[in-house]
Amino acid sequence: MTTDMRHAVFEVLSDVDAVAMRMAELFIEAVQNRPGERIRIALSGGSTPKRLFAILARPEVAQKVDWKRVEIFYGDERHVPVGHADSNQSMAESLLLSKVPLPAEQIHPMPTQGQAREDAQRYQEVMEASYGAETLEKGRPFFDVVMLGLGTDGHTASLFPGEPVLDETKAWVSVSDPKTAPHERLTLTYPAIASSRNIVFLVTGDNKVPMLRRLREGDSSIPSGRIVSEGKILVLADRAAAGEHTS
Ligand code: 6PG
Repeated sequence: MTTDMRHAVFEVLSDVDAVAMRMAELFIEAVQNRPGERIRIALSGGSTPKRLFAILARPEVAQKVDWKRVEIFYGDERHVPVGHADSNQSMAESLLLSKVPLPAEQIHPMPTQGQAREDAQRYQEVMEASYGAETLEKGRPFFDVVMLGLGTDGHTASLFPGEPVLDETKAWVSVSDPKTAPHERLTLTYPAIASSRNIVFLVTGDNKVPMLRRLREGDSSIPSGRIVSEGKILVLADRAAAGEHTS
């Protein structure tokens, strides 16, 4: 089965905290639903996941996750030095990954020390080693959960409008040099993101109203509108992003 945005499920929740709490539940469920299995999760970047990371790091929440079975990947990364203020990995490490019993060898930051294209190839090799194959197999999705955000220009991960990576059909990881956001980036490609049991978009804030509307319509003229999954797609939005009165 392949799910596209027209067949995504949309949940509108009261506010950012409610969206984060719901995603935390889904994270816990993804691990609990496949006992004994290795669970691969791709974290999204940007600011929206911050609340989620803080919730998952709470002892009473973290204890519900069998972290020794979890393997963390990233949906994208700004190609900046480790520790840079704009690094998605630095944010996830400081808010979550440094606070839970997740073995270091199961955390896979996107490399940013070399040339971006070389780093993208390196990351693909890390993914291939985890997956045990160099080709993504239908029916054997790479990810249990891919978390995605939504940009005000309709991008997701670092799949930005007009970027050649939007046409990539083979590589799992590539580069993006957007005009509408800082830094060159590494990003999972559409085929890599599609190799998932669950894709979950987290969309909050009234600045996302226009693009969330287009996403709900499955508008394929925006990069996020072209997302498909072997499994399910769920969009978690707060009332502000859904354009509902929040008074
Ligand atoms: C990134 C993200 C990007 C993000 C959107 C939404 O590295 O910037 O992966 O795709 O999810 O830009 O960002 P906010 O959550 O900050 O609105």
